Amino acid sequence: MTPSTAFEVGALRAQFPILGTSVHGKPLVYLDNAATTQKPRVVIDALVDYYATSNANVHRGVHYLSGRASDQFDQARATIARFLGAASPSEIIFTRNATESINLVAQAWGRATVSAGDEIVISAIEHHSNIVPWQLLCEATGATLRVIPMSDAGELDLDAARRLMGPRTRMLAVTALSNALGTVTPLADLVAMARSVGACVLVDGSQAAYHMPIDVQALDCDFFVMTGHKVYGPTGIGVLYGRAALLEVMPPWQGGGDMIASVTFERSTWNVLPYKFEAGTPDISAAIVLGVAVGFLTGVGLDRVQAHESALLAYGTEALQQVPGLRLIGTAAHKASILSFVIDGIHPHDIGTIVDLSGVAIRTGHHCAQPVMDRLGIPGTARASLAMYNTREDIDALVAALHHARKVLL
Ligand code: ALA
Repeated sequence: MTPSTAFEVGALRAQFPILGTSVHGKPLVYLDNAATTQKPRVVIDALVDYYATSNANVHRGVHYLSGRASDQFDQARATIARFLGAASPSEIIFTRNATESINLVAQAWGRATVSAGDEIVISAIEHHSNIVPWQLLCEATGATLRVIPMSDAGELDLDAARRLMGPRTRMLAVTALSNALGTVTPLADLVAMARSVGACVLVDGSQAAYHMPIDVQALDCDFFVMTGHKVYGPTGIGVLYGRAALLEVMPPWQGGGDMIASVTFERSTWNVLPYKFEAGTPDISAAIVLGVAVGFLTGVGLDRVQAHESALLAYGTEALQQVPGLRLIGTAAHKASILSFVIDGIHPHDIGTIVDLSGVAIRTGHHCAQPVMDRLGIPGTARASLAMYNTREDIDALVAALHHARKVLL
């Protein structure tokens, strides 16, 4: 599909084998994409193809297969650099997931940069993975964690953000899109505030990278993290983008093979970027297949994905509100892809269990964002989350299953 052709969701769905399967004797309606997306045939085939034709360790062997695997690994890095708008593939570090990418920055950048009295600013809508690594850093250094508050709708308070940032702010670490509420963060405003006080910026793009085009240079962030399994790629692979000038001066995070230039018992020296941050044998197949997944997503066109999902979000927002007793959680003016809700008198887990019997997969609970739930005074939500292959029929199936759940449970 080229960006100029119509968005053919039927043809797209046919490329995802699992979408044609049934659960509990009902056609699968997959609405748990914020937890992980399903994989297109091209991604599944690439994984098999790698092990069938190219498997070898990278950057280590002189033999043919090692060269072939290394070439594919390097090509994947270059594809991801283009996908994120990085200045160079050497700014792309492969990690296990977005969580590991944030921990890498919090430890390698943080311990070298942050000291007692400094401040790290995050927001009220962060996933635990963009809270806990900074808490660990604060505990180790004596720095303070400050949190930009949110409104009842899930929007960040920009006036409060401006007041929070000051001369002691070393880092603003903020999500681009809330996984629990769907709030799209006003990144341009926040980055400008951080820049005006000389702070670094890390953007958690785990949730955003498969819904909207990303350009790290236009965003003017120092670090951007994403995870492979949400951009239609495999699990076990994540990405850290880092501005080269910062990565160059950061100490390594983990020590081991591949990250060194030389080793003696007295001292070791470090490899060039990005290898300085990639100790040990990486998940080679997952990195290569992530390149394929990102190529697939680019081929479909993120602008068109965004337009399709945004129309579906509007349809779903309207449709869900017709369910008696249902209250949407997360009603920011600028939202993407997430429909979180509660229903009077029914625990979210019960909602999830009953709609599953109708073949509808949603997630329930706190979505690794306990502070969001605490702020709203609820134990959790039921959450339908959209991807490029979802349709109005999927939303209709969810709504029908919710009506059924009310009948069964109330
Ligand atoms: N962070 C993922 C979610 O929101 C796993 O479900």
